[in-house]
Amino acid sequence: MASSNSSNSSASAEVPAPYGNGPAPSPASKPGKVRIHHLQQAKRDGSKFAMLTAYEQYTAEIFDAAGIEVLLVGDSASNNVFGNETSLPVTVDELLPLCRAVARSAKRALVVADLPFGSYEVSAEQAVAAGVRFLKEGLAHAVKIEGGKYYAPTVRAMVQAGIPVMAHIGFTPQSEHALGGYRVQGRGDDAQRLIDDAVALADAGAFCVLMEMVPAQTAAAVDAAVSVPTVGIGAGKETTGQVLVWQDMAGLRGGRMAKFVKQYADLRSTLLDAATAYGEDVRSGQFPGPEHTF
Ligand code: KIV
Repeated sequence: MASSNSSNSSASAEVPAPYGNGPAPSPASKPGKVRIHHLQQAKRDGSKFAMLTAYEQYTAEIFDAAGIEVLLVGDSASNNVFGNETSLPVTVDELLPLCRAVARSAKRALVVADLPFGSYEVSAEQAVAAGVRFLKEGLAHAVKIEGGKYYAPTVRAMVQAGIPVMAHIGFTPQSEHALGGYRVQGRGDDAQRLIDDAVALADAGAFCVLMEMVPAQTAAAVDAAVSVPTVGIGAGKETTGQVLVWQDMAGLRGGRMAKFVKQYADLRSTLLDAATAYGEDVRSGQFPGPEHTF
């Protein structure tokens, strides 16, 4: 977190559910695992935390070493790892091994896994069963589900089963077809709907509310309406945390970027240059050289 509260406290300061009533982590204690109560403390302190997607070992290691507080094994793996056009086709069985790799590789970050489309909508029981799989087989620390106040009973059942839940409202990519494409949500009078969603989900026990493609003013009103931390992606700067898909953040993905993306590197060009140089060296006999030869 931007302030010194990203340092962890001793084991005695770790807070069992319901999350967030424990003592604030001591700034003097050495950095340790990021826990849900640290994110909640960030909201109380007015400090910020960063979240990135990660889908495998090396990016998980690197983002963890960079101090990113939360790693999201997003269902965006569908269109950033598995080659699908949308997040809809990816399955629990496809995401679980990615989640395991991220959780094994991150020493400090809180690992949150997306419940993919089709794994939680039918009933609270279905959602609990999917959540259990992500914590047990995927080694995730928490899960995220998309949807508004309709899912409050589902969130309540999951939290009661011991599954920490992050709620995702606003533009929810799994509902792309129902929402009529990628559209900003919560403009004008529609802002109240998002506030009601966030309040209902937080009351049901969600430890955090993520908002996607929401006007900054609406996101600020949502943040003010709930005591839990909020995370934004295209939701302005008043949320407690920010999240980006890592391939967008680091410029690995080609094509048009959403307005809310800031690119911090151009990995696509770097890799293209490296692969082109390697191919040329192999074809010209420059590689392997004597120094690479036994
Ligand atoms: O799957 C994902 O990457 C997400 C982000 C857009 C928040 O849900």
